[in-house]
Amino acid sequence: RLLIIDFGSQVTQLIARRLRELNVYCEIHPYQKVTAAFLKEFAPRAVIFSGGPDSVMRDGSPRPPKEVYDLGVPILGICYGQQVMMQDLGGRVEAGEHATAEFGRAWVTPSEKRDAMLDGWFLEEREQVWMSHGDHVAEIAPGFEVLGTSPGAPFAITADRERNFYAVQFHPEVHHTPNGKMIYENFVKLAGFAGDWTMAAYREEMIGKIRDQVGDAKVICALSGGVDSSVAAALLHEAIGENLTCVFVDHGLLRLNEADEVVSMFRDNMNLSVIHAQEQELFLGELDGVSDPETKRKIIGRLFIDVFQKYADGIEGAAFLAQGTLYPDVIESVSFSGGPSVTIKSHHNVGGLPEKMGLKLVEPLRELFKDEVRALGRELGLPESFIGRHPFPGPGLAIRCPGEITREKLEILRKADAVYIDQIRKHGLYDDIWQAFVAILPVRTVGVMGDGRTYDYACALRAVTSVDGMTADYYPFSHDFLGETATRIINEVKGINRCTYDITSKPPGTIEWE
Ligand code: XMP
Repeated sequence: RLLIIDFGSQVTQLIARRLRELNVYCEIHPYQKVTAAFLKEFAPRAVIFSGGPDSVMRDGSPRPPKEVYDLGVPILGICYGQQVMMQDLGGRVEAGEHATAEFGRAWVTPSEKRDAMLDGWFLEEREQVWMSHGDHVAEIAPGFEVLGTSPGAPFAITADRERNFYAVQFHPEVHHTPNGKMIYENFVKLAGFAGDWTMAAYREEMIGKIRDQVGDAKVICALSGGVDSSVAAALLHEAIGENLTCVFVDHGLLRLNEADEVVSMFRDNMNLSVIHAQEQELFLGELDGVSDPETKRKIIGRLFIDVFQKYADGIEGAAFLAQGTLYPDVIESVSFSGGPSVTIKSHHNVGGLPEKMGLKLVEPLRELFKDEVRALGRELGLPESFIGRHPFPGPGLAIRCPGEITREKLEILRKADAVYIDQIRKHGLYDDIWQAFVAILPVRTVGVMGDGRTYDYACALRAVTSVDGMTADYYPFSHDFLGETATRIINEVKGINRCTYDITSKPPGTIEWE
């Protein structure tokens, strides 16, 4: 196994992800934990030093134990990790000045020397990399040579080929170093990894970790039926069986048949203990007459927490709350700038609940990215209909029903949405789309059907492509598809007599209508 020593970089998890993509098993451990004894026990086959925010020039800045250099295994240092390695092994690092600091895109030019670490690299004359450093190496350590340079980093890639120590100033793990993966690939090859680690192994490992963390304690989990909470629940169930209880909150703002599908899937097919909290009356009652989007969101968020707490209180001896937090949620919640940002929409979740209820958190998906969660879900035997699902917002149909929410409108919306999704599936487009839904508009328009006049609701179809929901573009359906879908909705759904297609991107729009 490979050890990643974490010096606090924002992107350390991306290193792990790159390695998992190469089917190499790795563990990230914070530098404070990595002592000589730890190294001995862990017995890594290779070590990676992550980047980090500190300066090696500062006394007391993070270091690995010196013994790491005597293990006789390959080491790769990244950014701060490079500087640590250089300083530890007798090189010199200089504090940043404007001229040598580099942030963002840079180009590395190869030296004359070729090396197995750079196989597949420098296919072009120079290679784009992502830099983010103030300090830089001014003198490399004895035994090292330079394999590549950039304008701000004369020692962009350095190597002690005798000992298989490599150190780079840039971040090969990020997306903006397009060929960065090659560096990891070459490194693990050099270290002799077979590349045969799989998601099945990860599942076993996570099950072990959950058992270690939770022991015999009881765990509660808010199950929404979305990919993340579904996979988290399935994994926990494998780990602790009966000690897991899921609460599925039905706020009356779900899609057609959704509650039944989720509850029967987990309760009947997978044998989980699921409480179906039927609180439609409570939610719809409090939302009655409310049309302001933020007020809607706040009401739903507050009630959700109240309801969840009510059911959780009924579960004797619950000590943990499980959440399907993913790695991107973790990064996003760490403020990069520290500055205040504007609330566009208040998202609802169960944040704040654990402290209030005296619960500890268990977050088994914290290290994973969405596609990895999907792979894990498949591994756990969840059906594709759950794994490939489009995201669905916590406030549900409330934010797809601009203006006042009525039961009549919700009913119409559910039917129209079901027809729309059916169309998308029938045309084989579901997986090409990030999210698709119908919004029912708060206006009635005039139409003619048969020989009669109609005066019914208009609806808007929305479908977007996106990578992470942060930005999005509308999906370019064919006119035929749109025409056919509009006809079906208007014919099959009583209460709608007009259909429009929303072609707004995000920004300036948002994905949801409210
Ligand atoms: P917007 O509308 O902000 O949505 O462009 C971005 C993504 O987030 C989802 N969304 C939510 N998810 N609770 C959630 O769990 C919420 O309150 C919420 N609001 C929006 C939205 O569906 C899209 O995928």
